[in-house]
Amino acid sequence: MTLIDGKATAAEIKAEIKSKVEQMVAQGQKRPHLAAILVGHDGGSETYVKNKVIACEACGFQSTLLRFEDDITEEQLLAEVDKLNNDDSVDGFIVQLPLPRHINEQHVIEAIDYRKDVDGFHPINVGRMAIGLPCFISATPKGILELLRRYDIPTSGKHCVILGRSNIVGKPMAQLMMQKQYGDSTVTVCHSRSKTLKEECRRADIIIAAIGQPGFVTADMVKPGAVIVDVGTTRVPDASRKSGFRLSGDVDFDAVAPLCSYITPVPGGVGPMTICMLMQNTLDAAQGLY
Ligand code: GUN
Repeated sequence: MTLIDGKATAAEIKAEIKSKVEQMVAQGQKRPHLAAILVGHDGGSETYVKNKVIACEACGFQSTLLRFEDDITEEQLLAEVDKLNNDDSVDGFIVQLPLPRHINEQHVIEAIDYRKDVDGFHPINVGRMAIGLPCFISATPKGILELLRRYDIPTSGKHCVILGRSNIVGKPMAQLMMQKQYGDSTVTVCHSRSKTLKEECRRADIIIAAIGQPGFVTADMVKPGAVIVDVGTTRVPDASRKSGFRLSGDVDFDAVAPLCSYITPVPGGVGPMTICMLMQNTLDAAQGLY
């Protein structure tokens, strides 16, 4: 079994990005600039955004964090999005999700200029991704593809089972894994209503688990030699930690790891790659690629 080290791979990629940025700067170009909008004080979102700002520093980017209280109206937030759309110093930006319930997330996503949508959530980017055109690809599926590529894990013609159908992970992952230019796999998507989920998993060469249920993928669901990618990051209470919680993946790691050929740990697998692909998208935005 090979442990897929997302943390080390992400560090390598960030160093590659930083060296490209220093070349750009030496040639008189400006540093890539990522802005993030954070609404409210959700613990998970605070951590994600903090880590995005730290990653910007590691890559030599400029970053701007715009914070708003959770009583901001949708109209006010849309006005902030519009400011960033029109700010030529900003190459790309994200609005950290989830947003408070009184704000329609889809309205906000669709208000973002798709050329600055480094999350790849705008319908133009989602649609272009679905038909294989150049675009911003959302960071988690892009990071998973990059891990598979850097570990030389064959995907062409393999049976890939994706657990979960979210807009952020499951759906784009399925689109990418089926496309010839990316995964070139045979793809099955299972979700909470799937009747044959266990059987599908047992037939899978690659399982990508993104359902947010700690320990959901058990040893009896895994074919020996399968590749396991764990996207789960559920916070579970843990009194022995200073933070009071630990992150738990969707896979029963201790039982499954001995069976498989490759596996991503939680933490230190997919998570660090996600932030790193956001940096890659920001670099692409700064170069006006899409
Ligand atoms: N919330 C959880 N993941 C993400 C992400 O990738 N981007 C944004 N904007 N919000 C998130």
